[in-house]
Amino acid sequence: MKLKSPRRNVQLYPGRCLCHRTNQLPALTGWQARVVRLSDSRKPVSLVYMNRNVMKPTSKTVLGLHLPTDPRWANLAKISLEEILTDHAYCEQKAATACISLVQLYPDHQELVESVAPIVTEEWGHFRMVLQELKKRGLQLGYQRKDEYVNGLLAFQRKGGKREERLIEKLLTCALIEARSCERFRLLSIGLSDPDLSDFYYKFMVAEAGHYRLFLDLANLYGSPEKVRIRWQEYLDFEARMLSGFPVRGDRMH
Ligand SMILES: [Fe+2]
Ligand SMILES: [Fe+2]
Repeated sequence: MKLKSPRRNVQLYPGRCLCHRTNQLPALTGWQARVVRLSDSRKPVSLVYMNRNVMKPTSKTVLGLHLPTDPRWANLAKISLEEILTDHAYCEQKAATACISLVQLYPDHQELVESVAPIVTEEWGHFRMVLQELKKRGLQLGYQRKDEYVNGLLAFQRKGGKREERLIEKLLTCALIEARSCERFRLLSIGLSDPDLSDFYYKFMVAEAGHYRLFLDLANLYGSPEKVRIRWQEYLDFEARMLSGFPVRGDRMH
């Protein structure tokens, strides 16, 4: 599906947007979700609805990503269920840890603290859901492996600079990991014949799409939207180059 205007594909409902300073919606190319914000909610993102039929498998712009995942990945992941669930479990742990770290580093950023604190609970809940799924299927949680994907993104972050600039780097890194996770959960959701597993991954897809949006909103709140937009494109380019150099492995989420 070719998108003409990002805004055309996004419906923001009444409520305060974290991007209220500029009301800009950056990096929405390919975003085909309906983001719903409850006007009486203190949470910046309350609900995200995604139609699993909207994002076609051939789309090259799922959440603005510059490189669609190799279709062979989902097939490989299907036959490595124990490994992919183990890797997924640790991804959820790392997501929770990243949010805790943001709070520890930026306690003076009230919007940030109030926005990401609930995500810690949510990500830990995701970890527990994966544990439950492993148990249900008689599978064992394995050991954590070296995460080349996340390490690559961390290496890409600009070091030094102002504290606020480092925050933007962290938020964009989080947004990108969420976007890629969302894209891959979607592939698993539509590619698996087991309806329980398909629904299982669908729930993750929806949740991570909301987190992607939240981290981008926060980046725009604390940074110049124009600079954030440019830097986000650099992240997307880098991630696409990095992933294209990775072997297609079905035992890893990324
Ligand atoms: Fe998660
Ligand atoms: Fe997440």
